[in-house]
Amino acid sequence: MSTDLPTIELSTGALIPQLGLGVWQADEADTEHAVRYAIGTAGYRHIDTAAAYGNEAAVGRGVAASGVARSDVFVTTKLWNADHGHARALGAVDASLERLGLDHVDLYLIHWPLQNTERLVETWQALIEIQQAGKATSIGVSNFQPHHLTTIIEATGQAPAVNQVELHPRLAQHELRTFCADAGIAVEAWSPLGGSGAGWGADSKPNTLLTDPAITRVAQRHGRSPAQVIIRWHLQNGIIVIPKSVHDERIAQNIDVLDFDLDADDLAAIDALDTGERVGAHPDDLNLAAPD
Ligand code: A2P
Repeated sequence: MSTDLPTIELSTGALIPQLGLGVWQADEADTEHAVRYAIGTAGYRHIDTAAAYGNEAAVGRGVAASGVARSDVFVTTKLWNADHGHARALGAVDASLERLGLDHVDLYLIHWPLQNTERLVETWQALIEIQQAGKATSIGVSNFQPHHLTTIIEATGQAPAVNQVELHPRLAQHELRTFCADAGIAVEAWSPLGGSGAGWGADSKPNTLLTDPAITRVAQRHGRSPAQVIIRWHLQNGIIVIPKSVHDERIAQNIDVLDFDLDADDLAAIDALDTGERVGAHPDDLNLAAPD
């Protein structure tokens, strides 16, 4: 990696830049521009997409147009729910790679665990084969609770390198983070700024974190934006963070966080916001698009 971004060593030995760009709910045109700008101008080296976002092709074009070598950019995509099961998973990664225009991704995640445990193990077994075939350097999961992680680890003997979950100051996920740390699983935060406000799932709600008075107070003290303070909180907690934006000035602002530190009082004030409130669905409740 060719920037000063902090990295985290995954269990595979691969280095993941701790800060990346998320592109959920970004259309093709916005995604292509955002990815190109983020890598080519703002200094990002990590893009997080998913088959379900419908913008993998745009991510691929943005990476290609960025002027930065593919080997210097960490690309994550995810297997959608309809592709659970061994055969479907093997087909899904090929389709994602085709859309991305890449011969491998750096990280391939199961997007949701769903509620069929036997099939979940089959899907994880397929991801292990995908990694062995060199189509994904590292493999992991998203939205897994400890019981899902235990199931796939006990069945296959292989732990995911990453678990990407909803995580922000209102949902600090301490128990899950401890479980993952003990199992050598890096934790990645989705909706790290509190989400888009467009929402989805039973618990979706507008973003009120970016205007939270406690965050605003810390931001004012440092002469920084609320988003920058929240991103620092993630970085200083050892979490991989992928804030989403399609606006150049916000994309640039969100990576301009490497020259200040939150002190213990700042961190404690933000830690106090942990009410366990979600902006998205609870992993155990969701079975959306599951195959028959
Ligand atoms: P936009 O893409 O219009 O900039 P998440 O928590 O899922 O990363 O969501 C971040 C949300 O906050 C997105 O809707 C994004 O919208 C917005 N956003 C991203 N960066 C900033 C920022 N620096 N200041 C204010 N809003 C931001």
